[in-house]
Amino acid sequence: MQATAIDVSPYAALSDQECDARILEARRTLGDRLVILGHHYQRDEVFRHADFSGDSLKLSRQAAASKADYIVFCGVHFMAEVADILSRPEQIAMLPDLAAGCSMADMANLAKVERAWKELGRVLEADEEITPVTYINSAADLKAFCGAHGGIVCTSTNARQVLDWAFSRRGKVLFFPDQHLGRNTGHRMGIPLEQMVVWDFDQPMGGLSEAQIRAARIILWKGFCSVHQMFQPEHIDRFKAKYPEAKIISHPEASFEVCQKSDYVGSTEYIIRTIHQAEPGTRWLVGTELNLVNRLHQQCSHEGKSVHFMSPTVCMCSTMFRIDPQHLLWTLENLLLDQPVNQIKVPEKEAALARTALTRMLEVSP
Ligand code: 13P
Ligand code: SF4
Repeated sequence: MQATAIDVSPYAALSDQECDARILEARRTLGDRLVILGHHYQRDEVFRHADFSGDSLKLSRQAAASKADYIVFCGVHFMAEVADILSRPEQIAMLPDLAAGCSMADMANLAKVERAWKELGRVLEADEEITPVTYINSAADLKAFCGAHGGIVCTSTNARQVLDWAFSRRGKVLFFPDQHLGRNTGHRMGIPLEQMVVWDFDQPMGGLSEAQIRAARIILWKGFCSVHQMFQPEHIDRFKAKYPEAKIISHPEASFEVCQKSDYVGSTEYIIRTIHQAEPGTRWLVGTELNLVNRLHQQCSHEGKSVHFMSPTVCMCSTMFRIDPQHLLWTLENLLLDQPVNQIKVPEKEAALARTALTRMLEVSP
């Protein structure tokens, strides 16, 4: 007879230390049937249990390569969806807390993107003139939309290569949901700012004129990350006034102005690599999520490096923070009973189209 799943509520009362010991025990018992993937923004108490850590690109490759029966994703919902899409059908992807979404991913949905595509189709031959490009921070049905319309997925690591791929096929790109990653990447490719227009999804025709649409090379969805939008150019100016020798490094989800004032711009993995490889004694101001910045500071302080968070106000990614040791333990102890909880399963028809767009991305990625 099959056991029933254990309820999550009693786990809330457990201390982090108690969870830690039981998580280690469950991992020992599950052995290589289990893999835990952890994004860099996870809190330390969870992050330490990850078998593999990485940015979105690295973690999607880990998910695709994993042989484990169970893939527990300590990250956010779209990441677990990608793990499900890229893994074998019999593997089970799980997200310890289903409330761990991504507010930026939620700024685009299929109905709004389909409406935009239809409206753009009044001005252009959409399927011949525009490549839809979705940032991996998006729901699976938007990846499927890209798969169905000759489009592709990108991450913060490969946005440049993906846009090169897109422009080698069609003259224009519809980029969603993050306007900043699209604009920062387009600018680095030499596309003038006036050829990158913002599609306001709450306005008819995105709030754009026919002439603006015809002249645009990249049509940027009006989405953003609420964490990275906290960083302001003045934060950099103030820091530089105090520490003129400091280096500035930002994630490309930060605004154009912040990225322009930064010495380096790149994914979480790139930020980690750059600071780790820097000269001892260097000082860094970092425009990305707080858990990662604090971890970098701790890891690098023995080399005399100091790593500072860009915003004066604390801004963690509250959805990443939903994954706590209590939910992780609950997930693992259910697996000990062969009772997967919080499985993320993308319907096969949608998964197949999304896989097409993800595979295109993996093929052009560095
Ligand atoms: P990375 O792929 O650079 O880790 O970024 C993911 C993300 O959500 C950043 O906000
Ligand atoms: Fe989404 Fe921003 Fe959190 Fe990244 S930091 S998961 S983009 S809300």
